[in-house]
Amino acid sequence: MRAYDIIMKKRDGQENTKEEIKFMVEGYVKGEIPDYQVSAWLMAIFYNHMTAEERYELTMNMLKSGDTVDLSSIKGKKIDKHSTGGVGDKTTMALAPMVASLGLKVSKLSGRGLGHTGGTIDKLESIPGFKTSISPEEFVKNANEIGVVVAGQTANIAPADKKLYALRDATATVDEVSLISASIMSKKLAVMSDGIVLDVKTGSGAFMKTVEDSEKLAKAMVEIAKLNNRNAVAMVTNMNQPLGDNVGNALEVLEAIETVKGNGPKDFTELCYELAGNMLEVSGIMTYDEAKKKLEENIKDGTVANLMKKWIKAQGGDSNVVDNPEEVLTISKDIVDFKAKKDGYIYTIDTEKVGIASMVLGAGRAKKEDEIDNSVGIKILKKLGAKVSKGDIIAKLYVSKISNVESSLSLLKEAYEIKNEKPDSYNSKLIYS
Ligand code: URA
Repeated sequence: MRAYDIIMKKRDGQENTKEEIKFMVEGYVKGEIPDYQVSAWLMAIFYNHMTAEERYELTMNMLKSGDTVDLSSIKGKKIDKHSTGGVGDKTTMALAPMVASLGLKVSKLSGRGLGHTGGTIDKLESIPGFKTSISPEEFVKNANEIGVVVAGQTANIAPADKKLYALRDATATVDEVSLISASIMSKKLAVMSDGIVLDVKTGSGAFMKTVEDSEKLAKAMVEIAKLNNRNAVAMVTNMNQPLGDNVGNALEVLEAIETVKGNGPKDFTELCYELAGNMLEVSGIMTYDEAKKKLEENIKDGTVANLMKKWIKAQGGDSNVVDNPEEVLTISKDIVDFKAKKDGYIYTIDTEKVGIASMVLGAGRAKKEDEIDNSVGIKILKKLGAKVSKGDIIAKLYVSKISNVESSLSLLKEAYEIKNEKPDSYNSKLIYS
């Protein structure tokens, strides 16, 4: 078999066989096939795409290049959740204790933020003492005893994806449905959960800018899970504006805590309810409607907040943060206002730019090795459809010594479009398995 022939077949719009895909992935990981041939193959896939079977083979070969995470010593149903990434996406922090209060086990590996999107691990680390690096024994113990454990990824999961992703990043071949779906699912299927709920973001702050592309990605990922005999559902959810009101690590923890206590912003609270309903239904524990009803009760009577405290304490964090978040979290006291330049309605928000505006304040990283400051970020006061008058505060910037305030303000200025008419809204859509 020759890489040349495999590339040519894909270039000419033909399907690659199981053996050919295995040959390319294995050969690349072993260093037997050079970057330039794999780049050409990726570009051919970018233009000619893959069938469901090809995508599945690519996923499984990337998965098999590394370890799998066995969760069998965790009792009960383990459901994983994955978001394709967005701005202000603090969902895992609120959703984990919510679904654990309904009887699910959340044993999740999460990542750090890069570029305009944040990462759960960075957010959790803004809680004093919170350990995101824990032993496998502690991981299992906490999942069994509390029902929630969230840790940074230490296992060698899908190293082929890491290598291929770096090449895609350098060759403009990231944003293609087959390549993204195989990349995400190779890591999700490596963790042996009983079901997977995929939150596929769509819009100006997401990888996929259009609903049509986001639905294709959602369907492709669910199809891969099915071919692997795993339960999965995907939701396509709105990223045409930041999720909730707060962007930035400690600010997002504060908002997640308010949400588990029933005082969160409407859009974020609704997303958590939708995802929780689907997670419980896909696990077969209760129906979507029953889950939503029970969750409302558990939030009202403090069950979810108590579970969050136990989770934080078990991972070494100061659980007092749940009762007194503003005292325990370090949130900058240095605030700069971003104001409306004219009267009208907030018509569009370039959400990716808002993410970058928060990043340049120091809340995120442009490069993996950059330092971050958990105390900085942006509080959004006016979202899509809001009526504003010239001079109204649209957002508050929480800044520190490392913040580039001017750059952040000019990004926000570019991000916000104010018009005399109200924008249309987009409702989340469920893609069934
Ligand atoms: N996230 C991933 O893990 N892989 C991609 O290709 C895109 C987003």
